[in-house]
Order: sequence, then structure tokens, then C-alpha cells
Amino acid sequence: MDGGGEVGCTKKEAEAEYHCHDFEWEDLRADVEANPSFSYHLSPFPTTTASPQPPSSEAWRSFHRRHASGRFFKERRYLLKEFPELLNSKGCAKVLEVGCGNGSTVVPILRCSPSITVYACDCSEDTLEKANEIVCNTQGVDAKDRFHPFLLDVSKEHFPGWLFCKCCQSSDGKVVDLSPDSSLLYVRGKNSISLKEDQCCVGGIDFITMIFTLSAIPFNTISATLERCASVLKPGGLVLFRDYGVYDMTMLRFLPHQRVGFREYMRADGTYSYFFSLDTVRELFHAAGLLESELEYCCVRSVNRKNGKNMQRVWVHGKFKKPTSQ
Ligand SMILES: C[S@@+](CC[C@H](N)C(=O)[O-])C[C@H]1O[C@@H](n2cnc3c(N)ncnc32)[C@H](O)[C@@H]1O
Repeated sequence: MDGGGEVGCTKKEAEAEYHCHDFEWEDLRADVEANPSFSYHLSPFPTTTASPQPPSSEAWRSFHRRHASGRFFKERRYLLKEFPELLNSKGCAKVLEVGCGNGSTVVPILRCSPSITVYACDCSEDTLEKANEIVCNTQGVDAKDRFHPFLLDVSKEHFPGWLFCKCCQSSDGKVVDLSPDSSLLYVRGKNSISLKEDQCCVGGIDFITMIFTLSAIPFNTISATLERCASVLKPGGLVLFRDYGVYDMTMLRFLPHQRVGFREYMRADGTYSYFFSLDTVRELFHAAGLLESELEYCCVRSVNRKNGKNMQRVWVHGKFKKPTSQ
């Protein structure tokens, strides 16, 4: 698991990863498609031979249990350069980080503005606890009343009503808009937040971050997951997306028996990894009613410090907006 490329990088390398287009994706595609040793990645997946797979969320829970030390935390320092909307957000923005892991994305967001509140879900209770510990102990981050982790399997469960209740959703999110210093009382239960009697929900989300999370859930659950995400976004709200792109070096390393679908693979520990083309991302987000405002491949060449080999990394970077009236 490389967590999207920052683990083990120097500051300079990490910055380069976010900003460089070292090669053209079309050139990489031509090389891969002409190389017979990669042909099994390209062939259609024979659905008839697919056997039922165990739930990937269970594999993620075991992954986090095994890595409880939190070594997979690495602050995504350059996230705000990719998504400056977070820095420029006006008022008291509410961010939902989907599949938060140990908080690598949460920390820079909380750090960037004291008026941002972050709600963060994951399917693993262990990683939520670790994220809470890391966020609360990070210098320069005042997380008090601003960080609300909760347990959710996004591949099959609906978001809780306290994020954006049906009533506020149907009135374009105009009913409630609570500021952090309002009398909203959060009672942190194991996986829920209770509101005061006269408050129906937090009024919807301004930004949803999905950073290396969609690739981690089974491909056949992505459409429904995106629909559920879109339902808690305020009209005009943005989804900020970053994930593995097709022909990324890590895709080409998977062996034929690890294929579980077209561009979809299962690691030895049971966790999934899907590799997105721009067309697939476009189709999935549009089907969820979201409008494209940015979508591109980030193609970065770097050298593995251990073995000196060239690494060609491909990520998809995207921003999608919920229309103001649907
Ligand atoms: C590669 S990590 C990304 C973590 C984080 N977004 C970041 O920026 O580092 C993917 C995360 O998605 C979570 N995840 C996987 N399947 C999930 C599901 N069905 N529901 C909620 N979270 C899930 C995993 O537990 C893991 O923490």
C-alpha cells in the first residue's frame, strides 16, 4: 500500500508529485499497450469466472488492526496547493473526508483555517481512533469541536441524517446553517453525533474530499457511493478527488491472478485497488449528478531511492460541483 505516493518522500519530492506533468499519459499508454507482458491488464475481464469476493471493508479493518502504530499517517502537505478552494472557503465551511484513514488529509485541512469543521468517516474503528489521537496531538491544529470522526461503510451504508436531513436536502439546504460557535451540541458516541432538540442537522457539506478512497472500494459499489455522497453535499458544493490513474506503476505490478475485474485488483491482504481512466471518472460523477470543473492525469516520474529504478506514477485529479438547482 503506498497511500498515494507521499509515504517515504522528501518534502521536495512530495511537492513535485503534486505539481509536475513529467510525461504525457498518451505516451505511457502507447508503451503499455505495445508491451506483450502487460497484455493481461488490457483484456476484458471474464465475468463468468469471477468468484464472490469477501467484503473489502473487512480487509481494510484487518489492515488497520495490523498497522495500529499509525505509520501510515503522512500529512498530505501539498493538498491545499491542489485544492486551494479549501483555503479560500468563506465562512464556516464543512468538509467531509470520506475514508479518512489515520487523518493524512484531515490534518492539513484543519490546519489551514480555524473556521473549517471536518467530519470524517471510515469503515474501521481502529483507524478512526488513531486519526482522533493524531489530530488531537498535532501541533498547530486546534481540533476542539472541529473534528468529528464517525464509523461508516460508504460502499453500502447511507450517511447519517445529522449531516443533511431529508427535510433540508429537499429545501436546497436553506433551513439550517450553523456556525461553530452556535449552541450546537455534539455528543460524541461511538459512531454518532447528537444534535440539540431544535436542530435537525448540520445543514449539509461544502466540500467532500475523496483522496485514494474510491479505488479502495469494489468498483461495482462506486456509483451508489457517489450518489450517497452527492446527497449530503450542499447545492454548489464541491467534491475534491484524487486517486490512482490507469497504467500507474502499481497497477502494472499486479499479477494476472490478482485481477478481480477490469482495471481492478486485490492485494494479498484482501484490500482492493481500482485504477481510473478520465472517462470512467467522468461517467461515474456525471451519473451521480455532479458537474466536472477540473479533471486531468498527473503523471510524475521519479527514481526509487532504494533500487535506483525509474517510477512512473499516474494519478487522477478532479473537482466536481453539485448544481445549485437540480
Ligand atoms: C488509501 S486509504 C486513504 C486514506 C485517506 N483518505 C488519506 O488521504 O490518506 C483508504 C481508506 O479508505 C477506507 N475504506 C476502505 N473501504 C471503505 C469503506 N467501504 N467505507 C469507508 N471507508 C473505507 C480504508 O479503511 C482506508 O482508511
